[in-house]
Amino acid sequence: MENSLNLHKKIKRDHLNIMKNVLIIGATGQIGSELTMTLRREYPGGNIVAGYIPGAEPKGELLESGPAHIVDITNPAQIAEAVDKYNVDTIYNLAALLSAVAESKPQLAWKIGVGGLYNTLEVAREKKCAVFTPSSIGSFGPSTPHEKTPQDTIQRPETIYGVTKVTGEMLSDYYARRFGVDTRSVRFPGLISYVAPPGGGTTDYAVDIYYSAVKGEEFKCPLKPGTFMDMMYMPDALRAAVEIMEADPSRLIHRNSFNIASMSFDPEIIFNKIKEYCPDFKMTFELDPLRQAIADSWPDSLDDTCAREEWDWKPEFDLDAMTRDMLANLRVKLGVAEKA
Ligand code: SER
Repeated sequence: MENSLNLHKKIKRDHLNIMKNVLIIGATGQIGSELTMTLRREYPGGNIVAGYIPGAEPKGELLESGPAHIVDITNPAQIAEAVDKYNVDTIYNLAALLSAVAESKPQLAWKIGVGGLYNTLEVAREKKCAVFTPSSIGSFGPSTPHEKTPQDTIQRPETIYGVTKVTGEMLSDYYARRFGVDTRSVRFPGLISYVAPPGGGTTDYAVDIYYSAVKGEEFKCPLKPGTFMDMMYMPDALRAAVEIMEADPSRLIHRNSFNIASMSFDPEIIFNKIKEYCPDFKMTFELDPLRQAIADSWPDSLDDTCAREEWDWKPEFDLDAMTRDMLANLRVKLGVAEKA
C-alpha cells in the first residue's frame, strides 16, 4: 500500500491540524479497509472508528491502529452508540452488496442500501454528523446516455443495486435540504486495488485479471470484448472520498452524487496493457450473462466536469500507471518474482 500512497499527491488542505472523529460503517470491506487507514493517516488527532459486523472483524494493522466498534447498519442503536462513544462528526457509510450479488439477494440489498442509509441519516440528523455514502456508475441504466454521461441525466437503473443507489442519492439530498445534514458523495467507477478484493461486483474482472497475470494463469474473462466501463485506481478513489468531504460547501452546486472518472476501458484494452508487462499472459472468454447484462446497461464513460469545477477533482492514475503499480504490489503480496 505504501507504494501507491507515496505516488499519489498529498490531499490539498488549507487548514492544518484538522481534527475529525470519523465512523466508517463497513470498515473491513473493499473500500473501508483502505479508507480507514487513509483517514487515520490524514486525521492523526481524531478517533477514526472502524465499524464492522460480527464475522468481518478488523485484523492486523486495521485492528491495531485505532478503535473499532460493532456497527450493523440495520441497527440504528449501534450507529448511535458508536457516534456517542467516539464523539463522531463524520460518518462514511460504506455498507452495501455489490451489483451481481445484490441480484441474488434483492431484499437484503434494499435493507442494507436504503434501510441502512435511512438509519445513518437519522442518527446524523439527531447528532449533527456529516455523511458520505458512495453512489456508483450502477445508478445509471439503459436509457442513460452511455458516452460522456452527464452529471444530471436520466437515472433509471434496472438492477436492485442501482435502485438503492439512486434512492440513496435522493434521500441524501433530501436530508441536506430538509434538515441541513451535510451529505456529500461521488459516483464511484469500478474500483481496482491489490489490497482487499471486491465481492460480487460487475467490475470485479478488472481486479481479477491482475491476479491471473501475476500468478501466470490464463484469465477467463466474464465480459465480452467491447464492454466499456469506467474504472479507477483505489488511491484516486480514496482521495476523492476525503476531498469531497473537505470541499468548500459554498462552491458545491451538487451534493449527491458527483460523477468522477479517470479511465474507461474494455477487456481487450486492459488485457493488452497488462501484456506489455507480462508478454506470456493469455485471456479467453467465458461469459457471465448476468454480469454482461448489467455491464451493458451501465455507461461507457462518465463526464466529471462538475466535480472538477466544484471541488477541483482530478485523477492521477491512468491505465498505464495503475497497471505498473498493481503488478508491482501484487508480485510482493503474492510472493511472485518478476520474469526476467
Ligand atoms: N463496482 C460495483 C459493481 O460492480 C459498481 O459500483 O457492482
